[in-house]
Amino acid sequence: MDLKLRGKRALVTGSSRGIGRAIALSLADFKVDVAINYLRNRTRAEETAHEIEARGVRALVLKGNVAKPDHVARIFEALKNEWGGLEIVVSNAASGVLRPARELTLHHFDWAMHINAAALLPITQQFLELPSESKKSLVAVSSLGAIRAIPNYTAVGASKAALESMVRHLAAEFAPEGLRINAVSAGTVDTEALTHFPNREELLEGARARTPAGRLVDPQDVANVVVFMCTDFAAMIHGQIVVVDGGYSILA
Ligand SMILES: NC(=O)c1ccc[n+]([C@@H]2O[C@H](COP(=O)([O-])OP(=O)(O)OC[C@H]3O[C@@H](n4cnc5c(N)ncnc54)[C@H](OP(=O)(O)O)[C@@H]3O)[C@@H](O)[C@H]2O)c1
Repeated sequence: MDLKLRGKRALVTGSSRGIGRAIALSLADFKVDVAINYLRNRTRAEETAHEIEARGVRALVLKGNVAKPDHVARIFEALKNEWGGLEIVVSNAASGVLRPARELTLHHFDWAMHINAAALLPITQQFLELPSESKKSLVAVSSLGAIRAIPNYTAVGASKAALESMVRHLAAEFAPEGLRINAVSAGTVDTEALTHFPNREELLEGARARTPAGRLVDPQDVANVVVFMCTDFAAMIHGQIVVVDGGYSILA
């Protein structure tokens, strides 16, 4: 399959592991150069970078906290210096405290908001400044918690709702400048992020049992749709939230 992505350059935030890693490797499968961003675990980021290079494209490893505008600026500066420009950004990095709302503080709330929602603003602004050889695509990774109530997910869910609203506002503002912005919203995916849920097993079993498609969403399912959203085949999709959940959210 030729998705006509060959030679494009991408940044995937939070791509040392989990869904971000699957997205990074999938882009590399379609001959896209990929910059791996991570926060703490350099070894995992380097392993992903090696796998990208093994696919015959360039990889860059860029440490930085997406919640800090100066870190974001540094990441884009490095991309400009190393590659000269960028056509694709996948804003995937996320974090958050998972606990009952009674135990949440505003510090927890701000933490999730900064990393999961606010970060999209400097990322978009920096992306706009970078040269590119074709129209640009930005895909944010969201979750069903933006529109549904999930136990222990109050802060992260609210941040994802804010993220989805930002996607629509930014998409409308920057479409005339050739930047297409969308989100892909995933159902439950069994990554390391789930180990932080006090009710992980229950969550996984519940999702598996309730999903019409009969299985959990896996990282590759999300990556496939993100990659599609980065192609010119999705040229007229702007400001949308594409749900990848095996039908979970269509049930009453
Ligand atoms: N798993 C699910 O069930 C699920 C469902 C729907 C949507 N999602 C969304 O999918 C995305 C990826 O989730 P995941 O489950 O793959 O997460 P994960 O396994 O916890 O991986 C998180 C990644 O983000 C990086 N990261 C964390 N905080 C960061 C920060 N402040 N700045 C830069 N990088 C940071 C981590 O780097 P280090 O390794 O260095 O810490 C890691 O690479 C998130 O947006 C999440 O909300 C997940």
